[in-house]
Amino acid sequence: MRLLITGGCGFIGTNFIRYQIANHPQTTVLNLDKLTYAGNLLNLADIEKEHGGTRYFFEKADIADATAVQSILKKFSPDAIINFAAESHVDRSISDPAPFVTTNVLGTQVLMQAARDAGIPRFVHISTDEVYGSLKADEPAFTEQNPLLPNSPYSASKAGADLMVRAFVETFGFPAIITRCSNNYGPYQFPEKLIPLMISKAWEEGNLPVYGDGLNIRDWIHVEDHCHGIDLALRTGKEGAIYNFGGNAERSNIDVVKAILKLTGKPESLITYVKDRPGHDKRYAMDYSLAQRELGYTPAHSFEQGLADTLKWYENNKEWLDNVKSGAYMEFMSRWYGER
Ligand code: NAD
Ligand code: DAU
Repeated sequence: MRLLITGGCGFIGTNFIRYQIANHPQTTVLNLDKLTYAGNLLNLADIEKEHGGTRYFFEKADIADATAVQSILKKFSPDAIINFAAESHVDRSISDPAPFVTTNVLGTQVLMQAARDAGIPRFVHISTDEVYGSLKADEPAFTEQNPLLPNSPYSASKAGADLMVRAFVETFGFPAIITRCSNNYGPYQFPEKLIPLMISKAWEEGNLPVYGDGLNIRDWIHVEDHCHGIDLALRTGKEGAIYNFGGNAERSNIDVVKAILKLTGKPESLITYVKDRPGHDKRYAMDYSLAQRELGYTPAHSFEQGLADTLKWYENNKEWLDNVKSGAYMEFMSRWYGER
């Protein structure tokens, strides 16, 4: 199988490429990535060394650039496209929504149009639970039938993309599948997101900035479980379907932060409550019974073991962590947290 993976230098894309190379020896991957602040070529340096030019190829390009995408599709002629490329951080979307619309909405439409013109037989669009909005404590988990009620510019841009995918399916018979997943954690996650940020702050013995009262709840899924789910959807999912993936691990932010402090042996006095994120979603939870029934998906990792393994990965890859904290990273972080 020839796979065009967009956003493969980011957190989940990197893990998905590694998953494909390790589990599907007949699969060849072309990674198309714009290399924004969140994209890191180093993530796949070993894959490039071992499989570059045979099973792994890289093209620096923007999914919103129609000419570039058309020429890559013509050259590579993939059997499927998996679209991970996105602006992915909610706080950045609050600071500046514009690139979220350009990449997440326009980029998805440009990529689909090029795929349609080239007759690509499969398109998997990677979306998120955030498109459903926020749950109250006693409400049931999101199903694929929940209305789209996004609350941040990020989730609105992801919902916009999902609606465009749906329209392509309905109007043009475009062969797309949408997957929606809860909060991922694991190796190669950029340290602007809760878990790697708190690990990094704990090691520095800096303040661990918890938004609001820390009682917001996320449903955590190990990135390997997400990659497994996407792989099942890619290879066996029904055209036009939407599949939810979750991790069976609803935890409040403060519990996650305390667990990290315990694992790192640092004191809870490092926790600092800061001004809440505007429009902060209270709770996400995913009902993934459709994926369970139709794809045989079930998450394999327990959150506590997965968190301990993730911490070990960061411990063994401190150089990676230092490397990604570039000038652009520091600039956003100091501005964002300076205002809190
Ligand atoms: P990330 O920010 O770590 O990586 C995004 C990647 O996309 C980077 O490599 C970046 O360079 C690339 N990119 C950005 N704009 C691009 C463009 N215009 N053209 C080509 N490449 C571009 O993101 P992630 O956490 O790996 O998320 C990947 C996808 O999964 C996103 O679509 C996100 O919405 C979705 N998702 C993420 C999570 C999560 O918990 N991280 C959960 C559910 C869904
Ligand atoms: O639910 C899936 C989504 O998960 C993905 O679609 C997004 O791409 C991904 O970024 C993530 O969004 P969240 O906003 O849930 O993740 P984040 O790691 O930014 O925050 C998780 C929770 O932790 C959230 O309730 C906000 C809180 N938080 C976050 C940061 C960065 C803090 O309390 N302090 C912080 O410094």
